[in-house]
Amino acid sequence: MVLLVGSKKVKTAVFISGTGSNLKSLIKFSKLKNSPISIELIVSSNNKAKGLIFAKSFKIKKKIFNFKKNTLVDKKLISLLKKNNISLICLAGFMKILSKEFIKKFKGKILNIHPSLLPKYKGLNTHERVLINKDKYSGCTVHFVNSRLDSGKTILQKRVIIRKKDTSKTLAKRILMQEHKLYPKAIKKIFNL
Ligand code: GRF
Repeated sequence: MVLLVGSKKVKTAVFISGTGSNLKSLIKFSKLKNSPISIELIVSSNNKAKGLIFAKSFKIKKKIFNFKKNTLVDKKLISLLKKNNISLICLAGFMKILSKEFIKKFKGKILNIHPSLLPKYKGLNTHERVLINKDKYSGCTVHFVNSRLDSGKTILQKRVIIRKKDTSKTLAKRILMQEHKLYPKAIKKIFNL
């Protein structure tokens, strides 16, 4: 459980690599009066990430990191997060693996959203695998991040029924719509709201 101190919103960083539709939904959520978070920083692993436009349109600080050079990135990233008093990190379509040391440093303070009903379908290409296996439903999961991929404690899940005509694209789209609602809900939950 992350504790809310007084009535101040918790300074949050969102990490992205791509489109940033979850980032947009989190920004909108953060603007609500009863939201426990304020988004102070956007970190991207990719300088071409479409989601970076939201930094401009919502006037949020952004920083791009080359996550290949791990230890150096860790140092710079940790100091940037500290400088901005960040105490919650939301991974949203972030396609890089964070180092064990980084995760340890922010233990219990990093969340991720994954487009499957974990523990099923960890990793990439979830929708394709769900369809190949002819599952009846899939969904999305918000979970705490630990050092094993997509394996931290689940906070909330939402089930999505698979339709006969679904392709990985149509399924991804329907699940993504649910992700936009689930992430804010999960954040409220960890703050006991
Ligand atoms: C989402 O489906 C997320 O669960 C997955 O990648 C997608 C990112 O979408 N990890 P967006 O960048 O938030 O639009």
